[in-house]
Amino acid sequence: MKPTVLLTGATGYIASHTWLALQGAGFDVVGVDDFSNSSPEVLNRLRELSDREPVFERANVCDEAAMEGLFRRHPIAAVVHFAAFKAVGESTTRPLAYYANNIGGLLGVCGAMQRHGVKRFVFSSSATVYGQPERLPLREDAPLSATNPYGQTKLMGEQILRDLGAADSVATEGGARGAAWQTACLRYFNPVGAHASGRIGEDPRGVPNNLMPYVAQVAVGRLARLSVYGRDYPTPDGTGVRDYIHVVDLAEGHAAALRRLFEQAGSVTVNLGTGRSYSVLDVVAAYAKASGREIAYEVKPRRPGDIAACWADPTLARELLGWSSKLDLARMCEDSWRWQSMNPKGFDA
Ligand code: UD1
Repeated sequence: MKPTVLLTGATGYIASHTWLALQGAGFDVVGVDDFSNSSPEVLNRLRELSDREPVFERANVCDEAAMEGLFRRHPIAAVVHFAAFKAVGESTTRPLAYYANNIGGLLGVCGAMQRHGVKRFVFSSSATVYGQPERLPLREDAPLSATNPYGQTKLMGEQILRDLGAADSVATEGGARGAAWQTACLRYFNPVGAHASGRIGEDPRGVPNNLMPYVAQVAVGRLARLSVYGRDYPTPDGTGVRDYIHVVDLAEGHAAALRRLFEQAGSVTVNLGTGRSYSVLDVVAAYAKASGREIAYEVKPRRPGDIAACWADPTLARELLGWSSKLDLARMCEDSWRWQSMNPKGFDA
């Protein structure tokens, strides 16, 4: 029998790609989302791509009764938890909303798991937990810090999961000792690209905050020009340098992490990155090539809170999960462009 995985935030960008990867890896998926930052149209696309009826319930992960219902109705064996707010800038102006949703949702889901004896959990963390890197590439044992509420929710999330694991090794909260909690904290670098079909991809609401979706909208003519935030960083061309990772590689990383939790005891915290680094202008050039369009840009001052450079040491994920990224920057741009040009206005056109 295939194990059933509950996927929260299931119709979001990374989760929708992970849905397909999990099915490909032999899991049954139950999706939950409240559509607060995604479209129901994603479900139609998933039906088409997987040739299966998506099992899905609309609910908010902070709704305890709704979570309880999900665990009663489905034979859930593990959870992959994506549901969270993710805009750094917005988190500084709406901290309560970020703590309520990101921490409240995590506690709600873990609480329901605890009550139902389900203890395999994959958590969407972020390279943001490394704060201002002291040394590159970033290894998982680098110092951790947060400079904004969004980052704090990721650090706290990881801490909550460590505490849950530690509690199991002494005594369980509320009695009988069952299986121990097993968690995988996945620290994503910069997810970009789209499914090769061009049917699912990133569809940010409003003006994109992140580089590649912004570039994509310039290429397709929805936005006039990119603002390059800073050309005076201590990097080869002066623009910010990041570790961009194809969302399909990232999705496969989740399937590998989940397989590990089913096959071996213990918990893991790993980087999901490529180990390669590209500047803003590298991305602009690669996207222009992939799309055949010129990407107009102008140099602006640095964006507050940005770091000069950030890339992963991906060794630990290879050792512990047997996973490494496969798709290069050209593929990231080609697949992003296919999605963007086939769906110029996103899912709800
Ligand atoms: C951002 C978040 C990070 C989060 C990640 C999720 C900030 C400060 N950080 O990472 O916490 O985990 O998204 O994907 O928001 N750039 C431009 N013009 C733009 C947009 C970006 O020049 O219009 C530059 C940035 O200065 C940076 C690079 O492109 O050098 C990547 O930016 P972005 O895609 O926003 O990702 P991060 O800042 O790395």
